Amino acid sequence: LTVAVLISGTGSNLRALLDAAADPGFPARIIVIGADREADGLFHAEAFGIPSFVVPWDAFESREAWGAELDAQLKVWQPDLVVLSGLMRLLPQTLVAEWAPNIINTHPAYLPAFPGAHGVRDALAAGATQTGASVIVVDDGVDSGPILAQEHVAVHPGDTETSLHERIKPVERRLLIDVIRRIAGGELVLSARAGSTRPDSH
Ligand code: GRF
Repeated sequence: LTVAVLISGTGSNLRALLDAAADPGFPARIIVIGADREADGLFHAEAFGIPSFVVPWDAFESREAWGAELDAQLKVWQPDLVVLSGLMRLLPQTLVAEWAPNIINTHPAYLPAFPGAHGVRDALAAGATQTGASVIVVDDGVDSGPILAQEHVAVHPGDTETSLHERIKPVERRLLIDVIRRIAGGELVLSARAGSTRPDSH
């Protein structure tokens, strides 16, 4: 299984994925695409000798133009699966339509609660006593696609956005790696229709 991971940020979830993929038994080959030149995750990719390249968001005059270049790059690599891990940019609908349902995303909340770019902050602001991590299929909404995996994470009194997010990320990583294993093993078949994602009927 060839997996293209799109990142914007520090790429700590990517690093965990690269660690897992370094195991010869891991059923996926990773490539990394950065949406920002300064995405630290690109350094992790280099350290692991993983192909990586940047399609910098700020070099394009529109989301569509950025998406078109991203699509062209993805077509070179023909990934079986596109993983958004810390990508803080919304993909243009054209790209989602082109690659759906083989695009999944990790989100640091227990969807459908707290979707969007500030899921951790929103959970704290809502006074939630527990939140979570979710892996979903990307559809034409924001964090609204079929849920592939999710797990609750406790909110501790005195949690800051950072402390809570750092407690969520390890869960996200574990769920993401497990979902990739299940997709690679054919036991999880992706479908863009909500609720239609099911273990493959043997
Ligand atoms: C992760 O929680 C991801 O779900 C969210 O942003 C965070 C990225 O963390 N979109 P990192 O860049 O992998 O450290």
